[in-house]
Amino acid sequence: MIQRNRTGTAAALVALALLAGGCTGATGGVRGTPGAAGLRDPYFPKLGNGGYDVGHYALSLAYDPRTGRLDGTAEITARATQDLSAFNLDLAGLTVAAATVDGAPAAHNRAGNELTLRPHDEIPEGAEFEATVTYTGVPEPITDADGSEEGWLRTDGGAVAVGEPQGSMTWFPGNHHPSDKAAYDITLTVPAGLDAFSNGVRTERRTAADGRVTTVWHAAEPMASYLATVAIGRFETGTATAPLGADADADSSASASASARASVSADAGSVPVLTAAEPAVAASSAALRGEIPTILGRQADRFGPYPFSAAGAIVMKDGPLGYALETQTRPVFPAASFDRATLVHELAHQWFGNSVTPAGWRDLWLNEGFATYAEWLYAEEYENVPARTRFATAFAQDANWAFPPADPPAAENLFDPPVYQRGAMVLHKLRETVGDRVFDEILRGWLAKYRHANATTDDFTAYAESVAGKDLDGLWDVWLYGDGKPEKP
Ligand code: ARG
Ligand code: ZN
Repeated sequence: MIQRNRTGTAAALVALALLAGGCTGATGGVRGTPGAAGLRDPYFPKLGNGGYDVGHYALSLAYDPRTGRLDGTAEITARATQDLSAFNLDLAGLTVAAATVDGAPAAHNRAGNELTLRPHDEIPEGAEFEATVTYTGVPEPITDADGSEEGWLRTDGGAVAVGEPQGSMTWFPGNHHPSDKAAYDITLTVPAGLDAFSNGVRTERRTAADGRVTTVWHAAEPMASYLATVAIGRFETGTATAPLGADADADSSASASASARASVSADAGSVPVLTAAEPAVAASSAALRGEIPTILGRQADRFGPYPFSAAGAIVMKDGPLGYALETQTRPVFPAASFDRATLVHELAHQWFGNSVTPAGWRDLWLNEGFATYAEWLYAEEYENVPARTRFATAFAQDANWAFPPADPPAAENLFDPPVYQRGAMVLHKLRETVGDRVFDEILRGWLAKYRHANATTDDFTAYAESVAGKDLDGLWDVWLYGDGKPEKP
């Protein structure tokens, strides 16, 4: 969702320049304008930037837990979506030492959380370019509107980085809005004796002569920047293989009961599972970490193929991380929240939120309502608690009715109960209205249609209606958009 910023004036100047014929060189005819400093997301207007679309981040980060100092290089490969004279990246704190665009030094300027780069040559619309930013400093976490801490969090002997919704700008410059997803390669260098984990597949682990350890992490599938993570410290690991590569369309018409669905066959492909837990919580978390392949297999049966080429979890002993987060391929948990329901929730986010990502923060119920409903479905199918029981409990709780899930009043309310519980209630009502078979078809089809893309609430309601073959306005008006609690469940 890139905003275009090219004005009529700029176009006229280009035309004049062409008429005059006085310009030479590849970009000589371009009269670019600066990309927008924000995407005007109603909850975080300055997050993200206009004028370009990132395809790939290569982050190289060296961290010293003793001093808290991070030395980073970000190589950002992007495509211009307008003629660009300058463009912004989001970056909070830290000091920029140098910046280049396509190898040539670029002027850089900081204002608040905006880093502006002015390339030596203007970038024509459609051109791919590479921006490199070298930076350093002690990252400071952000205290969010709801009081939670996010960003680069220092732990006892290491660090853990979480981004949702705006913390990733505390540790790397980027286009930090969920609408610009990109592939990542993250290289981490830490002192001797420590280890580091991130998203995706570890492709390299080497120890330098001075004992420092470097690991390289490859996240091939598109990732929203709030889902990037890093965990540094001492860890014990666990590995497994999950058979998750079911064919997307193989059983889309299966009924809602587990027995009626074909189980995922191992020869359809498998995914490496890598978990890491800090030593203090390694033993206590081992059994549940061992359940990840089973849970993912059950979710793949229900939702369709697992969307990523790696899986796992990171479990931190209790410290500055106050909540679990569905960081892509490898969700992070404080030990206190590492229970089965939360694990099911964060793993469900790999489909709902990570593969199908909200176009903006208003659409967050597409993550949280769906991951919560995935918990209800899991409890119904494997733990003998019908979803209607969970619905009845949620219906009775006043906190769930403070606002409609599709319209949180402010940034501080994004993670409030209505987004989770009332969001799940919307899906339960949809299921009651269309029946189990069509409901399953909607979930699977939604995930297939918007796989690795972004989607809005309107996309979902339109898609559900198209599969159901009928107008569902009455349902949306009351449950998704309505103020207050309906008289009857
Ligand atoms: N997405 C996370 C979850 O539901 C919660 C993140 C909460 N973040 C925050 N800043 N309050 O699994
Ligand atoms: Zn969630």
